[in-house]
Amino acid sequence: MKQYKVGVIGGTGMVGQRFVTLMENHPWFHLTAIAASGRSAGKTYEEAVSSRWAMATPIPEESKKLVILDAGADAEKLAGMVDFCFCAVDMKKDEIRALEERYAKLECPIISNNSANRWTPDVPMVVPEINAGHLEIIEAQRKRLGTKRGFIAVKSNCSIQSYVPALHPLLKYGLEKVAVCTYQAISGAGKTFERWPEMIDNCIPYIGGEEEKSEQEPLKVWGAIQGGEIVPATAPAITAQCLRVPVSDGHMAACFMKFAEGKAPSMEQIKADWAAFKGPAQELSLPSAPKQFLHYFEEADRPQTKLDRNLESGMAISIGRLRPDSQYDYKFVGLSHNTLRGAAGGGVLLAELLCAKGYI
Ligand SMILES: NC(=O)c1ccc[n+]([C@@H]2O[C@H](COP(=O)([O-])OP(=O)(O)OC[C@H]3O[C@@H](n4cnc5c(N)ncnc54)[C@H](OP(=O)(O)O)[C@@H]3O)[C@@H](O)[C@H]2O)c1
Repeated sequence: MKQYKVGVIGGTGMVGQRFVTLMENHPWFHLTAIAASGRSAGKTYEEAVSSRWAMATPIPEESKKLVILDAGADAEKLAGMVDFCFCAVDMKKDEIRALEERYAKLECPIISNNSANRWTPDVPMVVPEINAGHLEIIEAQRKRLGTKRGFIAVKSNCSIQSYVPALHPLLKYGLEKVAVCTYQAISGAGKTFERWPEMIDNCIPYIGGEEEKSEQEPLKVWGAIQGGEIVPATAPAITAQCLRVPVSDGHMAACFMKFAEGKAPSMEQIKADWAAFKGPAQELSLPSAPKQFLHYFEEADRPQTKLDRNLESGMAISIGRLRPDSQYDYKFVGLSHNTLRGAAGGGVLLAELLCAKGYI
């Protein structure tokens, strides 16, 4: 496989550190440049992150001496150094939209973890196992941007990875209604317990914008390309509550589902659909793809965040406690690693898909 030169914009942040870590020993991708704000620009990566390194493994050697670029002022330089960039920055939405479009117009493809472009109609929001076909919209986006190589592709919000993959193989039974409550880790806010001591022994029943994203983003993922746009699906109807819980990594979801009258499958059928489910990520044997995307645990007390979030390098989805419900047809619990599958790992898998399909 071809080797690709990769940049990370926002490489000093929580998600950016994950990207940098995932580039270490990646078989296709070579970390070539890191950019962040003007506060970090000009420092070596080691100088900029040593006091806020939040990963369990040490700062990768290959990144330590890289001198951080200014994502805005050095955009042309960075775009000329790499084949594509990951982007995970904490900025205002309109600033992020402008930044990402600027790089795309500099012919540097952007794989983004930010929410700013998720609802741009010709920007694909892709979970590689679920809607790889949405990449075809890139041609329409390139026409709009006037680019040959450049484009923006985005990852969905981390919260939806804990239940949407489990629902996806069941859509064929006429899934009509979903109610979901998510229990989300503090790394999802870019925080550790050292930097957010108020979260120790605490739950916060509000995460700004998260319930809207959890209800609406799945519909874009399940949408269809029509006339140069991705038109969101209209079903199932989803209602969500999102809570911040005192957990470092790993988002859990308690999910209820109701099917069309008379179409609900049996529990055995649901488990069989989960066990059999594969997507292009598995079929193409992408380096970061989990071998088994959906794992079902029969034990009544699984999945557990601490025990199961790192399953298949944090890229698999854990599911448990499937059982009938008195108001809905069934309920279950899902778990995914929010900064791996839900953020940087999902971004790397999307980049691998884009390379394998010839978009980069
Ligand atoms: N954490 C998660 O699990 C998660 C999951 C999915 C999506 N996301 C999204 O990913 C993005 C980053 O999240 P995070 O948790 O990694 O945030 P974070 O830890 O606060 O990091 C923010 C990054 O943005 C950079 N930055 C800030 N202002 C900038 C500017 N004006 N120009 C260029 N770079 C700038 C920072 O650089 P400096 O170090 O120089 O300030 C840093 O690298 C957000 O859009 C977030 O919504 C996060």
